[in-house]
Amino acid sequence: MKALILVGGFGTRLRPLTFSMPKPLVDFGNKPMILHQIEALKAAGVTELVLAINHQQPEVMLNFMKEYEKKLDIKITFSQETEPLGTAGPLALARDKLVDDSGEPFFVLNNDVICEYPLLEMIQFHKTHGAEASIMVTKVDDPSKYGVVVMEEGATERVESFVEKPLHFVGNKINAGIYLLNPSVLDRIELRRTSIEKEIFPKIASEKKLYAMVLPGFWMDIGQPKDYIAGQRMYLDFLRRKAPQELVTGDHVIGNVLVDETAVIGEGCLIGPDVVIGPRCVIYSGVRLLGCTVMRGVCIKEHACVSNSIVGWDSTVGKWARVVNVTVLGKDVHVGDAEVYNSGTVIEEQASVRPEMVVV
Ligand code: GDD
Ligand code: MG
Repeated sequence: MKALILVGGFGTRLRPLTFSMPKPLVDFGNKPMILHQIEALKAAGVTELVLAINHQQPEVMLNFMKEYEKKLDIKITFSQETEPLGTAGPLALARDKLVDDSGEPFFVLNNDVICEYPLLEMIQFHKTHGAEASIMVTKVDDPSKYGVVVMEEGATERVESFVEKPLHFVGNKINAGIYLLNPSVLDRIELRRTSIEKEIFPKIASEKKLYAMVLPGFWMDIGQPKDYIAGQRMYLDFLRRKAPQELVTGDHVIGNVLVDETAVIGEGCLIGPDVVIGPRCVIYSGVRLLGCTVMRGVCIKEHACVSNSIVGWDSTVGKWARVVNVTVLGKDVHVGDAEVYNSGTVIEEQASVRPEMVVV
């Protein structure tokens, strides 16, 4: 079985992390975001994966993918656009990689979503309904920034209409960014910049061939810091239910906490709930961490506090410092002793020279 992941975005909303790393390789739950998807696709029987990229220099991704091609025994190829082709055009460009004699449907994923990936159930759903295209949907409180599906009346799972980013409320079931498509969908897509949400799904829905499966479990688009942090809470909660042995326990731990085995934690710390600590991190004594991500190689000095924030790779937080309220530190940022960072993003050159960030 085949799959394509749309990896074309610039990752602007996840800066400054994406200054140092392409968005798909930004860690989430101590693993590059895209690895969650690749592992799920592999588990659902995918043997060939296409990454649809546009502007990026693919070298970093290429090296990373080579490693995982071997580890996961899955063939990964790149399909690179010379100009951005939107969310449907890349499928037309990769047509030869997606279609073979089997006539099997293939998966298409947005790269910035995280969930439990019930892909085997989705294959079953697609077959049972004889759909041309199946999409996963989930309920959210504010549907306006997503694609919204309106279902047909009655018990059917057929989509009556699909409206991308509606201006007025049409429903609260939104497109979760995970599709299973028959090869015939490719016949509907021209090789130009085009949107699957605006041009293709509405057409398939009007022909009554678009079906929506309600996603069981959690879902989040983790493409911006606040949602990344909320998504991490949901993901850790999922681990608690499905693989509790991966979470740590102890007197210094509250709730769900994931710690890489190479991290070192000092005396008298209080960690949690909802914390992820990456490889080779050093957390000195008396540190308080909650609702945060501390990425690979970070050092948090004595009595510092990090709350609802993301600390990028190899950064340092000084003694008694506070990093709070959706602050994102990029790679190699050094927060001085007793400094306070309250909301906002910080890249290396800005650290300790932006007085408005520092509330003493
Ligand atoms: N290759 C390629 N080329 N990929 C692209 C391009 C492009 O020109 N433009 C966007 N993408 C990729 C992004 O990297 C992402 O994986 C996916 O297409 C969707 O683009 P976003 O920019 O993240 O869209 P969105 O978040 O506003 O909305 C989409 O996702 C929502 C769920 O999170 C839509 O699919 C909505 O309908 C959906 O609800
Ligand atoms: Mg998105």
